[in-house]
Amino acid sequence: MTAPHAFWLAGREATGEETFDVTNSWDGRLVGTVSVPTEAQVEEAVAAAHAVREEFAATPAHVRTAALDHVAKRLTERTEEIAQLISAENGKPIKWARGEVGRAVSVFRWAAEEARRFNAGDAQRLDTDAGGTGRLALTRRFPRGTVLGIAPFNFPLNLSAHKVAPAIAVGAPIILKPAPATPISSLVLGEILAETDLPAGSWSVLPVPNDRMPALVQDERLPVISFTGSGPVGWSILDSAPRKHVTLELGGNGAAVVLADWSSEEDLDWAAQRIATFSNYQGGQSCISVQRVIADASLYERLVPKVVAAVEAQVTGDPSDAATDVGPLVSEDAAKRVESWVNEAVENGATLLAGGTRDGATYAPTVLTDVPADVTIACEEVFGPVLTITKAEGEEAAFAAVNDSPYGLQAGVFTHDLQTAFRAHRALETGGVIIGDVPSYRADQMPYGGAKQSGVGREGVRYAMDDYTYERVLVLTGLAL
Ligand code: SIN
Repeated sequence: MTAPHAFWLAGREATGEETFDVTNSWDGRLVGTVSVPTEAQVEEAVAAAHAVREEFAATPAHVRTAALDHVAKRLTERTEEIAQLISAENGKPIKWARGEVGRAVSVFRWAAEEARRFNAGDAQRLDTDAGGTGRLALTRRFPRGTVLGIAPFNFPLNLSAHKVAPAIAVGAPIILKPAPATPISSLVLGEILAETDLPAGSWSVLPVPNDRMPALVQDERLPVISFTGSGPVGWSILDSAPRKHVTLELGGNGAAVVLADWSSEEDLDWAAQRIATFSNYQGGQSCISVQRVIADASLYERLVPKVVAAVEAQVTGDPSDAATDVGPLVSEDAAKRVESWVNEAVENGATLLAGGTRDGATYAPTVLTDVPADVTIACEEVFGPVLTITKAEGEEAAFAAVNDSPYGLQAGVFTHDLQTAFRAHRALETGGVIIGDVPSYRADQMPYGGAKQSGVGREGVRYAMDDYTYERVLVLTGLAL
């Protein structure tokens, strides 16, 4: 039996009194055993972060930049090993796991870039009124305090990177809490952080059980909470800590709109391919996977068979196989929930054009049409490899259909027309609008986050840095402006 994975307490390795197992949802094998921090150890990590916050905020940029560059370099060197680990603990096909490591490298590189630029300050002359003669305002940003980063299972490395890298960039201590299903890749990130010269106490990676999180959420020494995960948990954090700076990256039911001008065979083939791929990547377990396709009535009949063929061509199987497009969901329970939502839709009149079957934790890539508006799959985030296709009469109706959702994370609009692109940008109540592609496109430096029930705040390195800090004005007087 191998030793349990240690966690990272104030920058050093530690083990607790209990452990839990991490298993592979494809074959049930044990991926690793993880040590759980005791309450006293969690307290030690929080106290250390709190104690080091002023020192860390004052760290020279070159120290933070060197650490961020080091993490990017080491993630690059260890890509294959970490990708195998992500695939094993998450069930994610290896090709997508490799992509995830590449994205995490990019996050740390961007954070190093941003750390070089951060906090030079914005100057404003104040002598625009007589009372401000000789005065200048210099505005700089300072950390709000220690960040509690709560990461989800679906991108266990990259969404941890999105919590940790901006914190280091601004000099804010961070306590990272990985998802219980996928903690090991975050612990490997800890291994790499431990190779840097960041001050002790400035970071911890603590696999704290979910039922012990309310105490941390309430802890006043952790004034910033960056949460990615489910809506009910996210909103309950915000409700229970209304005076904290809470950012929530929650769910979505991403729509891909195919408008009338996107109508050549080549256009439709591309749209169908992109829709099929990004409805099913990671088993649909991405907040911006394609869940709803809204097709203009003029091309609906031509698009549907192409989407069905492209979905049926997705290779389902062992996530460690390089040829696999769609692996298992994170657990059999997750697959059973998806199955029950599809069955509910079909029992209420939806037409099943592909998929609709489950084998253990694997749910087959599925296409539904004629879905009644009030069934669960039409209203909620499915977080599985299922897409619905509906018909819309024209652009306005299509945009209204996108907005007819409690969520608003990202939308994709297939159009060639620049005016339409700008109208989409104005009309769609989402945090992002992707033209000529699916809603699932995300570059890690761009602002990413939701409107409506999809959350508050933004990721994307510089935007998270804004969330982790606040503006403080320095007024200088008696200057010869
Ligand atoms: C998410 O599921 O919210 C993250 C999607 C991504 O980073 O691509």
